[in-house]
Amino acid sequence: MKHIFKKGSNPSKPTLLLLHGTGGTEQDLLPLAEIIDKDANVLSVRGNVLENGMPRFFRRLAEGVFDEEDLIFRTAELNDFLDEAAEKYEFDRHNIVAIGYSNGANIAANLMFHYQDALKAAILHHPMVPRRGIDLPDLSGKQVFIAAGTNDPICPAQESEDLHSLLESAGANVTLHWEGHGHQLTMTEVKAAAAWYNN
Ligand code: MLT
Repeated sequence: MKHIFKKGSNPSKPTLLLLHGTGGTEQDLLPLAEIIDKDANVLSVRGNVLENGMPRFFRRLAEGVFDEEDLIFRTAELNDFLDEAAEKYEFDRHNIVAIGYSNGANIAANLMFHYQDALKAAILHHPMVPRRGIDLPDLSGKQVFIAAGTNDPICPAQESEDLHSLLESAGANVTLHWEGHGHQLTMTEVKAAAAWYNN
């Protein structure tokens, strides 16, 4: 997968996995890594799917309606890529913290839905429930921060509530942060994510 890797100054820190929103690239979330943890490794990946020229991490049939078969395939592909990248760049495969926005947050959540040890923690900006009606692995010990907008037309508030309870039922420790805005990624929520990460 097309990506950027930047080695951090402190090898005991996690690797921050950056996953952009629809139409984004691996450049987009680099400033967030600086704010969350400037000493950590950064692995920023570009989605392998194109929708009218816009990169995404998996196909959708319509706005908010996911192509489940492709979502499953792309999630496996990303999980395999993380194995390869950990070997190539010599970072700890068990110490990855995802930071995703929108479509990137959705595939990060789906990594947790399918693979118990894919991520140690995740910061999900405006995610949806990636899949419903499946059994989640035991996510005890996993930490998740969800930032959601009360007026988000793309990820209705109920989606954030549902994702929160699904992850908690699987044993994860989840913090849900609300912004009184829509789908945009705000500096306030990034600062709240940084405070959560550094706590
Ligand atoms: C998705 O397709 O993953 C969500 O609808 C959010 C987005 O527009 O990227």
